[in-house]
Amino acid sequence: MPAITVSARSGAPEETSADTRVVALFEGEELAEAHLQDLVELGEAKPGLRKVATDHEDAPGGGRRRVLIAGLGKREELDAEKARVAAAAVAGRAKELGSVSLSWAAPDGVAGALVEGTLLKLYSFDRFKSKRDDPDEPEGGLESLEIAGSEVDPDEVERSRVVAVAQNAARDLQNLPSNVADPVFLAGRAEEIAAAHDNLELELLDRDAIAARGMGAFAAVAKGTDSEPRLIVLRYRGGEDGPHLGFVGKAVTFDTGGISLKPGAKMSEMKFDMSGGAAVLEAMDAIAALRLPVTVTAVVPATENMPSGHAVKPGDIVTALNGKTIEINNTDAEGRLILADSLCYAVEQGVERIVNLATLTGAIIVALGSTHAGLFSNDDDWVGEVEEACKHTGELGWRLPLHPEYADLVKGKYADLDNAPEGRKASSITAAEFLKNFVGEVPWVHIDIAGTAWGQTRPYVGSGASGFGVRTLVELAWRAAGRP
Ligand code: BES
Ligand code: MN
Ligand code: ZN
Repeated sequence: MPAITVSARSGAPEETSADTRVVALFEGEELAEAHLQDLVELGEAKPGLRKVATDHEDAPGGGRRRVLIAGLGKREELDAEKARVAAAAVAGRAKELGSVSLSWAAPDGVAGALVEGTLLKLYSFDRFKSKRDDPDEPEGGLESLEIAGSEVDPDEVERSRVVAVAQNAARDLQNLPSNVADPVFLAGRAEEIAAAHDNLELELLDRDAIAARGMGAFAAVAKGTDSEPRLIVLRYRGGEDGPHLGFVGKAVTFDTGGISLKPGAKMSEMKFDMSGGAAVLEAMDAIAALRLPVTVTAVVPATENMPSGHAVKPGDIVTALNGKTIEINNTDAEGRLILADSLCYAVEQGVERIVNLATLTGAIIVALGSTHAGLFSNDDDWVGEVEEACKHTGELGWRLPLHPEYADLVKGKYADLDNAPEGRKASSITAAEFLKNFVGEVPWVHIDIAGTAWGQTRPYVGSGASGFGVRTLVELAWRAAGRP
């Protein structure tokens, strides 16, 4: 899909040269233009959120053009999330109708959200299809999006474009199958991102370096696969403002379970087990592009989890980077092992606040479905900031508790820790308790995205790969830079 050009214009919205313009309709309000208000009175244009009616009019430069009337509900209830949803409904309709250029008359305060909803909705992943799924759909697609209105802030529009493009790039990494997007491929993407920005620096550790550095838990997971693992470290140095942030993302490019092999049903979905890492890498691209005046270190452990003659076995004991010993009683609880060393590594780099994103447990899907990600933290203030950022982006999170009684469940019989306590008690929480052992005193939030990384029902991301977390990470960097 070629990139969609996005622009802001402060003149009168109806003066656009786009082939399709969008007018917002609020409940209990009338449209100023008589031919549009006619459609409202006929009941064809409705103010309910996600409703879209079509009309035509003479274009100022001659010829005809399309007008879409988009329902936005009650004006006083409009927020960014509703604007994303409405923008997605409009984008879907515009695509069906063959619009090439789209211009939104933006209601106050939601210019950025309209950009996000449009770009996220129009994302598709069809590069492996030799012919189109729907031959009735027009060729081409949307080439430009304009956000028009006297109050529209061009910087906000551009920022939203950058983050939505980054989120779609994360979706590409997620959707790519594991025979393409292996750990070395992800490292290559990190190289590309680093090369594109003068304020980013890349460090890569290969199999030998991971072991030599003392990352025994990560090395154990990578033992079973013939694909080379990589520890990917991106350092962004944009300024002295705010705390040094650490973003850590699980990137298991395929999770078979290892010797504790998963059942076959839906195993193909385990190509998405790198979603946390994808979100972290692409968020760094956006943060660097926006030149936010902050310091961020990103750590992404990338490996496959495979069974083989040289794979780690249940009962094996390994030592993590901070010296803690771990009994690997289930090789399918691999995410926490690679994160253990990566969290230690981030702490060694001097990070002062950590967020890690990981498709860590099936149990979080049972608890929260695909609406909220699970949040776990050792610090009330930091998790409060993360919760605020989640609300702002619509990437919702819900905090679950930690407690010494849960921590007891991950104590080992023969070593300090057990990576997979028997029984299924609170297994999303025990996974978080396990991770907590590797962050020391640093304020930390673990976001379990196993339910939200794909399979969402949000209209603007659909049910496939969602790129969940990209916008929240950028938002956290934005806030760390002291921006409102
Ligand atoms: N990647 C999985 C978690 C997962 C499962 C994500 C389903 C998305 C959908 C993770 O590595 C895993 O296998 N977790 C185990 C942990 C268990 C062995 C303690 C799980 O959740 O069953
Ligand atoms: Mn697993
Ligand atoms: Zn996994």
